[in-house]
Amino acid sequence: MKYNLLGNTGVYVSEICFGTMTFGGRDTGIWGNIGKVQQQEVNEMMKTVVDAGINFIDTANVYSYGKSEELLGQSILDLGLNRNNLIIATKVRGRMSADANDVGLSRFNIFQSVDASLKRLQMDHMDILYVHGVDLYTPIEETVRALNDIVLTGKVRYIAICNWPAWMVMKAQGIADKYGWNKFVGLQYFYSLSGRDIEREVLPVAADQNLAVMPWSPLAGGFLSGKYTRTNETPGDSRREKFDFPPINKERTYDIIDVLADISKAHNVSVAQIALAWVRLQKGVTSTIIGAKTIDQLNDNLKSVEIALSADELKRLDDVSALPKEYPGWMVERQMGDRLVK
Ligand SMILES: NC(=O)c1ccc[n+]([C@@H]2O[C@H](COP(=O)([O-])OP(=O)(O)OC[C@H]3O[C@@H](n4cnc5c(N)ncnc54)[C@H](OP(=O)(O)O)[C@@H]3O)[C@@H](O)[C@H]2O)c1
Repeated sequence: MKYNLLGNTGVYVSEICFGTMTFGGRDTGIWGNIGKVQQQEVNEMMKTVVDAGINFIDTANVYSYGKSEELLGQSILDLGLNRNNLIIATKVRGRMSADANDVGLSRFNIFQSVDASLKRLQMDHMDILYVHGVDLYTPIEETVRALNDIVLTGKVRYIAICNWPAWMVMKAQGIADKYGWNKFVGLQYFYSLSGRDIEREVLPVAADQNLAVMPWSPLAGGFLSGKYTRTNETPGDSRREKFDFPPINKERTYDIIDVLADISKAHNVSVAQIALAWVRLQKGVTSTIIGAKTIDQLNDNLKSVEIALSADELKRLDDVSALPKEYPGWMVERQMGDRLVK
């Protein structure tokens, strides 16, 4: 396992982060469809990832409405792990109850949510607090100031962003800069061979601001694991049958899977391992957040860190999954031609 610096900080995180969205579950609703992993298997998974060298764990308040945080915190105690050897990340924004204010990125909710998460995790601090998405009803200044202040309490070490448009990330960094507040250190976004949208605006902001990049759903919610094919669109007992997320162009993705299958045969490994290796090897990626519903899936995915892809294999995958050109990107590319001095 390799370790990368977390953006503009002095903290090393493993190049694989373990996502705990499959922990907990309920009989109905999206969390039940994503996974129902309970304490004993959670402990087994946590031992497996720590033994593999992973020091970076991702959860969220909303995952199974707090159950994922509870199971994660308990597993660290059950396994006798040193909490201070782990970078624990959780999130705030998603609705936790029907109450009018139990949602969003207000100062009110950020402070209450952090306390509730720490209680469920059985911890006195979290290492990273992500804003889990946009809240268009709260002024961005209120959110950035509340995040600065929560860091000053010592309950949160670093702050980071999920799923914001790039312009908002930049605006928030500018506000923090102007007032001398704590700045964001990382970005967590959907990034996979079937969803490369962040290459347009988000990855350039990350490079410019030295922000860590943590891709989520690197297998596009399991679609790139190898079990979905043109002839087997519903492989059974799979999340996407009831919770078809994240949205992808499936026809295009089958073309990508054809290339993945070819490369995986040459390496004698699973399709999932090649798809994960591609994400890990992309420029700017700090730590790929893997997900698993079973121990077998987890062990399969962990092996992806051993895979090196050749320049030719990377090019084949790049070509088959490339984003269509969009304005102003194509104009930037065209105009930069005359800046080259040959
Ligand atoms: N910030 C955000 O907005 C956001 C959003 C989503 C996720 N995340 C984070 O990212 C993490 C990973 O996301 P994800 O779970 O969507 O990742 P993913 O890797 O795209 O999908 C994982 C799912 O794919 C299937 N799978 C995984 N490995 C497999 C294998 N080797 N063979 C066959 N099937 C396999 C399993 O589901 P099935 O068996 O049901 O098919 C598994 O639960 C989450 O745990 C969470 O921490 C963050």
